Amino acid sequence: MTKSTSLDYEPGVLRVFQSKDETKAFYNKIAKVYDLLAEHSEQPMREIGLQMLAAQAGESILEVGFGTGHCLVELAQSVGPSGRVKGIDLSESMVEETRTLLKETELEDRVELHCGDAAHLPFESNSIDGIFTSFTLELFDTPELPQVLAEWQRVLRPGGRLAVVAISKEGKQGIVMKAYEWTHKHFPNLMDCRPIFVSQAIEAAGFTIEKKKAEHMWVPVEVVLGVKPL
Ligand SMILES: C[S@@+](CC[C@H](N)C(=O)[O-])C[C@H]1O[C@@H](n2cnc3c(N)ncnc32)[C@H](O)[C@@H]1O
Repeated sequence: MTKSTSLDYEPGVLRVFQSKDETKAFYNKIAKVYDLLAEHSEQPMREIGLQMLAAQAGESILEVGFGTGHCLVELAQSVGPSGRVKGIDLSESMVEETRTLLKETELEDRVELHCGDAAHLPFESNSIDGIFTSFTLELFDTPELPQVLAEWQRVLRPGGRLAVVAISKEGKQGIVMKAYEWTHKHFPNLMDCRPIFVSQAIEAAGFTIEKKKAEHMWVPVEVVLGVKPL
């Protein structure tokens, strides 16, 4: 694949119109009903991303923006008792929902939860084998995206994997996407995600793209596996 520059993926991508405090307040408000709203469409996409990451027994895995915690459960099962999973999410209520789920599934000893902004990670450099994130990268504003991806790359060990599931600006956009973007622009408190050029952003941040799938929910979705160079 050809190398893209950090600016190639910006044209046509909408900005983020909410502050992080507004984003946090939004997810605090919907945490209890998030699964009802999104699970049906997002769950199959997340599964593709988890398969791409292929977390192994004994690994150290981080999930960014874990929401109600279903992927953290799967990741904790994949890494087994000798592995470790960390998660970071901006919303206190999402953290509470996830804490309850981890207790119910008796996996709380394997998972470390953090509440905070994933633009700054409280983890050591080169300490993580893999990062998973679904429907969260689109919530970082365009100028911040390269810095956020650089921060995620900092904590990954050389050769570490980044699996991203995100709404995509690539390919045929169609009327549903136009309506989605219109809603994001005029009612950002209802549609906070916006489509981005996912693999281009990851590649521009210095990852090698190992795998990439174009999927479709009710809008186009990219599932991408990037690797931090050795
Ligand atoms: C659209 S939800 C996706 C949740 C989950 N990954 C899923 O696929 O169901 C976005 C999640 O990212 C979290 N989030 C938003 N901005 C964040 C940030 N700057 N740092 C960490 N988490 C963030 C939200 O609180 C929310 O839980």
